[in-house]
Amino acid sequence: MKNIFRINQKINPFNKKIFVSADKSLSIRWVLLSSLSKKKSIAYNLLKSEDVISAISCIKKLGSKVNFKKKKCEIVGTGLNFNLNKKLILNAGNSGTLGRLILGLLINYQNNIKLIGDKSLSKRDFLRVIMPLKKFGANFVSNKNKLPLNIRGTKKPKPINYFESKGSAQCKTSVILAALKAKGETKIKAKKSRDHTELMLRHLKLPIKIKKTKKFDFINVKGVNEINPLNYKLPGDISSCAFFIVLTILSKKSKVLLKNINVNPSRIGIIKILKKMGAKIKIINEKKYKGEKIADILVRSSDNLKGINCPTKFNSSAIDEFLVIFLVAAKSKGTSIFKGLSELNQKESPRLKIGSKILSLMGVKNQVTKNSIKIFGNPNISLSHKIIIKKYLKDHRIFMMSTIAALTFGGNWTIHDANSINTSFPSFLRKLKDLEH
Ligand code: S3P
Repeated sequence: MKNIFRINQKINPFNKKIFVSADKSLSIRWVLLSSLSKKKSIAYNLLKSEDVISAISCIKKLGSKVNFKKKKCEIVGTGLNFNLNKKLILNAGNSGTLGRLILGLLINYQNNIKLIGDKSLSKRDFLRVIMPLKKFGANFVSNKNKLPLNIRGTKKPKPINYFESKGSAQCKTSVILAALKAKGETKIKAKKSRDHTELMLRHLKLPIKIKKTKKFDFINVKGVNEINPLNYKLPGDISSCAFFIVLTILSKKSKVLLKNINVNPSRIGIIKILKKMGAKIKIINEKKYKGEKIADILVRSSDNLKGINCPTKFNSSAIDEFLVIFLVAAKSKGTSIFKGLSELNQKESPRLKIGSKILSLMGVKNQVTKNSIKIFGNPNISLSHKIIIKKYLKDHRIFMMSTIAALTFGGNWTIHDANSINTSFPSFLRKLKDLEH
């Protein structure tokens, strides 16, 4: 695949059914949880992307056996304790989720592990997980709270009380995984964020209690001695769907049916926000699967979009989708305001800053601060100038956002780092091509 992608034509009207690739959050969680069971876990349709392959490489180094062929992946894990205690280097690649979650698993590894990552991951904050994991008894030496870092776990992790204040599922999950290895009960009060880990633990009948209030989730987890295997059929990722949802909304005379998507309520902020802006989106054929909600999403071209003063209660459930939501704001009537988004600058690249830069390159007036953006929409937006997108830390979502902007607004685009899609959605460009045939 060429690493520079050029587009100078809008997409033609389409009417298609698409299966996007599997949910990345669920795929990484499945790999890590399966590594905790000594019996064989089987997954179908596991996401075959770089982030998931990095997770598999890490658990293999820690002693798990993995057989990943075509649509089927089998893992025989180590159990909750490790047979090894030699020094190791683990590479989380580009994945913040893997980097933060695996530290929770390492809480009882009794030798030094060095955790490394790529250039983008090495710029991201790890203090958010170092702080609670230290309370369990682990020791850390880090490079100013960033990677590379060294962790040395403890033989007897102690349960903790933890307040997760950022709305970060990565922090919450890292602590939940560590809690499974601590003797006693860990008590977590967490700002709302995706709850896949809790649902998987509940499905595995592990000792987890969850109480949800409007603002917080209260989660109690007890340590265990063993974990049953987890067989799983992975549904599609709403974060990958997001690009096709926005493409369809902003294209003329088009319609798409996105099949078998995880529509967990903690992930569908994009649908709630876009519907408020006037988009034609329907969730149909809902069913339950191992605690998750799965459905098809029907999307149609939508005229008469209107700006939004976006309620911050949607922020965590749309956190990976704001870049494409900004494109809808660019084509809406009136001004849109998105607030409380400082976490967006903590992603694979500082997405609030770079998202604003891309809008400016497109000629869309916007005002950005450290945690908010105001976008002045124009329903007649149409581009014809040259736009070059590069130097954004190879962030997959920046690449995909730029591609959708090019296909819907026109202009003469050169978009660098096409290979970045391999972290989350390797078939993205192929699926776009399918729309044209
Ligand atoms: C994820 C949580 C989110 C999200 C990331 C995946 C997860 O990060 O942005 O892409 O799978 O737990 P934060 O927990 O840091 O918000």
